[in-house]
Amino acid sequence: LRRGATRSDLAGRRVVVSAGGTREAIDPVRFLGNHSSGRQGYALARTAAARGADVTLVAANVSLPDPAGVRLVRVESAVELAEAMETERAGADAVVMSAAVADFRPVTSAASKIKKSGDAPAPIELVENPDILAGLVASRAREHTEQTIVGFAAETDDVIANGRAKLARKGCDLLVVNQVGGGRAFGTEDNQATVLGSDGSAVDIPTGPKEDLADRVWDLVVERLPG
Ligand code: CTP
Ligand code: CA
Repeated sequence: LRRGATRSDLAGRRVVVSAGGTREAIDPVRFLGNHSSGRQGYALARTAAARGADVTLVAANVSLPDPAGVRLVRVESAVELAEAMETERAGADAVVMSAAVADFRPVTSAASKIKKSGDAPAPIELVENPDILAGLVASRAREHTEQTIVGFAAETDDVIANGRAKLARKGCDLLVVNQVGGGRAFGTEDNQATVLGSDGSAVDIPTGPKEDLADRVWDLVVERLPG
């Protein structure tokens, strides 16, 4: 049996997981996007459901089979994801932001398909998207509720130092830090990570299936849930 497969330590808990990658419209047929497959988020949703949780999965542009026993909410853009997360987070025991959110979106999305004109192409002007994770932390603070908030980060270079700084900046409880580069993480079946805690903890999770990483993340969430 896989880790967590026989446990029901999330029974009676409501969790919200975001997955996939946002798409920011340029015109009706084009977008700015990223390579996130949604596999890690779907694994988080499946494992939480297997452990008894009431799961809402907010999926941005994922083409994977719908996980059984999970409420699925579909979004496309970062702004739509932000709205869905703010709605779904209310009353949840844990929120996990595993979606890859576009940092910027085009200032305007053209109503009609942009055509070649023969001249030099017009630049695409960008504006920053809302920081959804930081927004979730702010909402929790406003409500004075207990909720465990988890972020994900893909880092290069000094992975742990970058992760610590990001954890502090975002104000979440746990940050799952993946080392990227060399074809790791995006679109692959296996994942390796270090989970940094706001309490100063660091838990290394060896390379393995995304399901195993998901179960380890839920272990750390369960430790932080109020009785
Ligand atoms: N995130 C978010 N809203 C954004 C950007 C990121 O909620 N606008 C979340 C991601 O879902 C992830 C975490 O924040 O859980 C870290 O994402 P990352 O892109 O690493 O953080 P950024 O603050 O965007 O920093 P960077 O400049 O390194 O991209
Ligand atoms: Ca980013």
